[in-house]
Amino acid sequence: MRQVLRLCEAAGLDGADSAAYARTVLAALGPVADRPLDLPPPDDSFLSDDHTPVEFSLSFTPQGDPTLRVLLEPGCGAGDMARNGRAGLRVVREMARRWGFGTRPLDEVEDLFFPPDPQGPLALWCALELLPGGVPKLKVYLNPAASGQERSAGTVREALRRLGHHRAFASLPDGDRHLFLALDLGAWEEPRVKVYLAHHDLSAGEAAGLSRLDGGPGRRAVTSFFHTAAALPEADAAAGTDALDPAAPDLRLDRRPVQSCHAFTGTATGRPSGFTLYVPVRDYAAHDGEALDRAVSVLRDHGMDPVPLVRSVSALTSRRPEDGVGLIAYVGLAHHQGRPPRVTVYLSSEAYEVRKPAPAPAARTTSVAGSGGPGPS
Ligand code: TRP
Repeated sequence: MRQVLRLCEAAGLDGADSAAYARTVLAALGPVADRPLDLPPPDDSFLSDDHTPVEFSLSFTPQGDPTLRVLLEPGCGAGDMARNGRAGLRVVREMARRWGFGTRPLDEVEDLFFPPDPQGPLALWCALELLPGGVPKLKVYLNPAASGQERSAGTVREALRRLGHHRAFASLPDGDRHLFLALDLGAWEEPRVKVYLAHHDLSAGEAAGLSRLDGGPGRRAVTSFFHTAAALPEADAAAGTDALDPAAPDLRLDRRPVQSCHAFTGTATGRPSGFTLYVPVRDYAAHDGEALDRAVSVLRDHGMDPVPLVRSVSALTSRRPEDGVGLIAYVGLAHHQGRPPRVTVYLSSEAYEVRKPAPAPAARTTSVAGSGGPGPS
C-alpha cells in the first residue's frame, strides 16, 4: 500500500522496514487489501468515517522522531461480527507467532469479547507501532459491548479482574459508554490494559477532572489542550479554566464525544498509570487546514517538532487540507506516570471518500445553560 510506504518514509524508517511493514499491513487485511477501491467499502467498518479499515497515527515525544502507528480491522468484510472476530483473532495469533509474542492476556478474556452472537460496532481491531528494526509492537482493541451495551460495564470489570487488576474498575471515572478494552502484546516494557470511555457534551473543566493518575496531569494542562484542539473562543477558554467552581461558565463539545483512556500497568495501587484525552477535532473544525493548525499548536505547546506531521499529511494525500475535513480525525494528549507527555495525531486513509468542508464555522459549542441534549451519534 502506497500510503504505508510513504508514511514510513516520512517517519524516518528505512526502505527495508518500510517494505516489510507494508507487506505486514496487507497480509493483516487479507482479501480486502486486493479489493479495487472503486468498489464500495467491504462493510460499514466503524474504524473510520469513510469505512476504510485502516487509520494511521503519529505519536510525538519532545525528543526524536515520532512513532508511526497503524490501526487495522483484520476481519473487515468477513460477513458478520462473529466471523469478523474470528478472522481478527486468527490474524493477531499469526502475528504473535511470527514475532514470538505471547497472547496470554487475550486468551484469558477471549470468551468475554467473542460470544457466539456478538453485537457491533466492532469485534477486534489491532494496531501496530512501526518501530525501526521490522518488529512492531502490537495492540489489540476489543468491544466491551459484544454481549450487549447493557453488559459492557460488567464485561470490563470482569476482564480487568481476570488480568489481575482487581481494583481498577472502581477507580475509573464516570463516562457515557465503555468503547474499547485494549491489550498490549509483545515486547512492551510495561504492557498496559486500557479502558476507553466516551464523554458526550464534555466541558474542559470536566475533562480535567477525568484523570485518575496519582500526581498529574494538572488541570491547566488538560484544559489548555482541550481548548486548543477544539479551538474554543479565547474569552470562553479563559472561563473554562476556572471550572472548579461549578457555577462558572464552561463550554461543551456537543458533537462527536471526547474519549478518555485509562491505562493500567502495575496492580499495587488499583489506580491507572496512564491517562489520555482524545478530541475528535474533525467534528469541531470547518476543514483540515484548521485541524492541522490546531494539531501543530498542540505540538508546539509541548515543545514538539510539527514538521513530521506536516510531511506525513502530504505523504498521505495530494489534496489540500482546506478541501476536506476528516483527514485529521483525533488529536490526543497522553500522560504516563514518570514520562513526558505524548501528543498523538490520527490520520485517516480516506481511501473511499473525502468529507466536504463544513459550510459554517464548525467550532460550535453550547454554554452549560444552553446544553442538555445528548451528543451526536
Ligand atoms: N472511528 C471511531 C471514532 O471516531 C474509532 C476510532 C478510530 C478512534 N480511531 C480512533 C477513537 C482514535 C479514538 C481515538 O470514534
